[in-house]
Amino acid sequence: MKSSSKPFDHKFHNYGKKESCANLLIKGLPFVLTSLFIATILTFFFLYSPNPLTLLPNQTHDEFIDNHSQIEEHEHANDFIKHHSQNLNLNQEHEDQHVNISKPSPSKPNKEKKTCDLFKGHWIRGLRGSSYYTNSSCPTIPDSKNCFKHGRMDNDFLNWKWKPEQCELPMFDPKIFLNIVRGKKMAFIGDSVARNHMDSLLCLLSQEEIPKDIHKDSEDKFRTYYFPKYDFTLMILWSRFLIVGEERIVNGTDTGIFDLHFDKVDEDWAKVIPELDYAIVSSGHWFFRLMYLHQGGKLLGCVYCSEKNVINRDSDFTLRLAFEATLNYINNCKECRKGKLLTILRTFAPAHFEGGIWNTGGYCNRTSPINKGEVDLNRFEWNLRNVQMEEFMKVKNNNKGNIRFEILDVTNAMMMRPDGHPGQHWGNKWMKGYNDCTHWCLPGAIDVWSELLLAILQREGDQERIMSFGLE
Ligand SMILES: *[C@@H]1O[C@H](CO)[C@@H](O)[C@H](O)[C@H]1NC(C)=O
Ligand SMILES: *[C@@H]1O[C@H](CO)[C@@H](O)[C@H](O)[C@H]1NC(C)=O
Ligand SMILES: *[C@@H]1O[C@H](CO)[C@@H](O)[C@H](O)[C@H]1NC(C)=O
Ligand SMILES: *[C@@H]1O[C@H](CO)[C@@H](O)[C@H](O)[C@H]1NC(C)=O
Ligand SMILES: *[C@@H]1O[C@H](CO)[C@@H](O)[C@H](O)[C@H]1NC(C)=O
Ligand SMILES: *[C@@H]1O[C@H](CO)[C@@H](O)[C@H](O)[C@H]1NC(C)=O
Repeated sequence: MKSSSKPFDHKFHNYGKKESCANLLIKGLPFVLTSLFIATILTFFFLYSPNPLTLLPNQTHDEFIDNHSQIEEHEHANDFIKHHSQNLNLNQEHEDQHVNISKPSPSKPNKEKKTCDLFKGHWIRGLRGSSYYTNSSCPTIPDSKNCFKHGRMDNDFLNWKWKPEQCELPMFDPKIFLNIVRGKKMAFIGDSVARNHMDSLLCLLSQEEIPKDIHKDSEDKFRTYYFPKYDFTLMILWSRFLIVGEERIVNGTDTGIFDLHFDKVDEDWAKVIPELDYAIVSSGHWFFRLMYLHQGGKLLGCVYCSEKNVINRDSDFTLRLAFEATLNYINNCKECRKGKLLTILRTFAPAHFEGGIWNTGGYCNRTSPINKGEVDLNRFEWNLRNVQMEEFMKVKNNNKGNIRFEILDVTNAMMMRPDGHPGQHWGNKWMKGYNDCTHWCLPGAIDVWSELLLAILQREGDQERIMSFGLE
């Protein structure tokens, strides 16, 4: 506890060593503050470690909060809040376009679809106040994402549809999806937001077939569902950092300090990769804490540590190395059958705390999206997304042809959805009054990730057909 405030002080003083003081204040400080801010909010919400630590009474909830060693961090983040109110101005002037969101539009094989950037766009209103499923039609909806059950009263946030600039994003059709993935295995690999995406997909698919719950580990970090009619397997492989990240234990107590090893990817997912047809990889929310970075037997530096002889690194640096290692590992997979695995990198999804952070009354009670023009691309979320995008482009250009890579770039779309989070409606028994502005309500804005995923799979299928005809 005592030492955890130091890393942040240190970061204030040492950020951007090459810059003059004035420069630091002008350019560096907002970034530093931003880093602190994200460190803080994410430390809390992503310490939903299913690893039964301490502090909280009997953990029956599927997720719980590790309250330890974050207090000073939050105090620092308060400074951020004071200096830097969030740039989320609600502007109701949304575009007046309306579409029917109740029925899947027949997917026409038009040419524009293949080249259109699905991720550049805006939200438009749908005509009907509805969604693909409800908390009674989805049997697998996790309690903590069941916002209506926990008292969310507004439902207009369900009425928005993502509209790419150059084309239409087809509605999600579970039959089309399940036919594409028939006989295949898909895994979500990542943290609790990856889990959130899988849970959304499960709800979407269960409108066509209720899956069997075939595997669950004791901490519910690894879960497998099976759709018998389509012989489709869907799983979550939980991984905080994608690469090996070990928490330091001192006298039997977790310290919240991690050692990251960029030479070693997390075996928990790596050993499953050869079986998979689809791997949806994401990460990012755990990278804002005290960490020591190791590679090739050397200490590359640390994040938020205050040691004189250790180089200070930021979370972008760390995230970059983690994605580089992960994507290279997959690209070099020897046991993967040629052409079998499609790897999809899902980019960082922003949290939306306003007026504070988790323990200072931060909330997210907006009821509609913000406009495209209001998205602040100077924010840290966008930097993280750019790091991920660069690593994705690197592996795509260095592709050996064995593994295919695609991107599911949700960051920009989700930056416009401060209305999509559970806020206070997440049924938390132990932390009453604290808001979840990180995960996403089900049903809700996150369901669009699977619309995008389906569009990617369809494009990929078209490409495969073209390629196999070309080869034969
Ligand atoms: C979280 O930590 C604070 C400060 O150490 C403590 O006062 C509070 O009771 C803790 N909350 C829980 C739920 O354990
Ligand atoms: C917690 O678990 C213990 C032992 O299993 C039990 O005696 C106690 O009543 C439980 N407390 C709550 C609040 O559920
Ligand atoms: C929406 O649905 C209504 C009723 O089904 C129909 O009359 C209308 O033409 C549809 N609008 C669009 C844009 O598809
Ligand atoms: C679904 O949400 C409603 C409120 O809209 C709530 O009353 C009900 O208990 C919820 N049902 C389930 C199964 O979660
Ligand atoms: C660990 O426990 C030992 C014995 O109780 C104690 O001497 C030592 O200071 C502890 N170390 C830390 C870092 O707390
Ligand atoms: C959102 O919550 C804040 C803090 O509780 C409150 O001041 C504000 O009025 C709320 N806004 C809406 C739209 O409910």
